[in-house]
Amino acid sequence: MIGDYSGGIAEILREAGELLSEGLKQDNRSFTRKNSIDLVTCWDTKIEQLLTRRLEELFPDHGIIGEEGGGSREGFRRCFIVDPIDGTTNFVHGFPFCCISIACVEGNAPIAGGVYAPALDKLFLAETGSGATCNGEPVSVSGISSCDEALFVTGFSYERRHQKERLLQIVGNGISSYQGVRRTGSAALDLCYVASGIFDFYLETGIHAWDIAAGALFVEEAGGRVSMLDGSPLDLFGRQIAAGNPAIFKEALKKTLEGLAV
Ligand code: IPD
Ligand code: CA
Repeated sequence: MIGDYSGGIAEILREAGELLSEGLKQDNRSFTRKNSIDLVTCWDTKIEQLLTRRLEELFPDHGIIGEEGGGSREGFRRCFIVDPIDGTTNFVHGFPFCCISIACVEGNAPIAGGVYAPALDKLFLAETGSGATCNGEPVSVSGISSCDEALFVTGFSYERRHQKERLLQIVGNGISSYQGVRRTGSAALDLCYVASGIFDFYLETGIHAWDIAAGALFVEEAGGRVSMLDGSPLDLFGRQIAAGNPAIFKEALKKTLEGLAV
């Protein structure tokens, strides 16, 4: 046990979840643009302010990096990486597949994390060495042993308009190799669903540490594998990730990236 993170993280996520639920009930969730397709709402900002304030109260000696507010790891042994709304585009359109993600990292390694999706009523928690849970029940990755039977999920990052060919190749390889291909719009939940054995393999490039830090820990704690696209150890800040059930992981990496340079 690393230290009692899960209790504090769960408490903060529940509070932040009330704001996310309130936002989802509004008729109109107006937004501004970070660029032509990357949106931010007042709810992202409000939730991140709450996360920062509450994490500073409970863990005053930790740094905090947030998707909206920035921040730095400099000078801190441990640091929180938070995403106030993962799935902001879903949220803006009222598609309830969105969540709040908090991870605690030491160096490049996530050591604790929580993801809360209030509209799905799912709270995922993990600490290194303690396993991963959803609503208090242990979760584990699937046991499917062939890509033919697997459900593959991917995402299209905000660099997608410059990476169209590459993304289409990944989707095309997915269509040829798996039972099904999904794109949900929340990387954090994609990883939670891999950890829960619902999705079998997930891969995305152009992703950020706040999208994946908690989810990557869940997958590992649920018995899965995470890596860079060349199979090397995951660098949370390396802007890419593959995650999945260990029985298909190697085959899935190869099939999904066929014809592409990694
Ligand atoms: C995005 C979502 C999406 C993924 C993008 C992320 P945001 O995060 O996780 O699924 O494909 O790469 O940036 O902007 O909704 O917090
Ligand atoms: Ca995100």
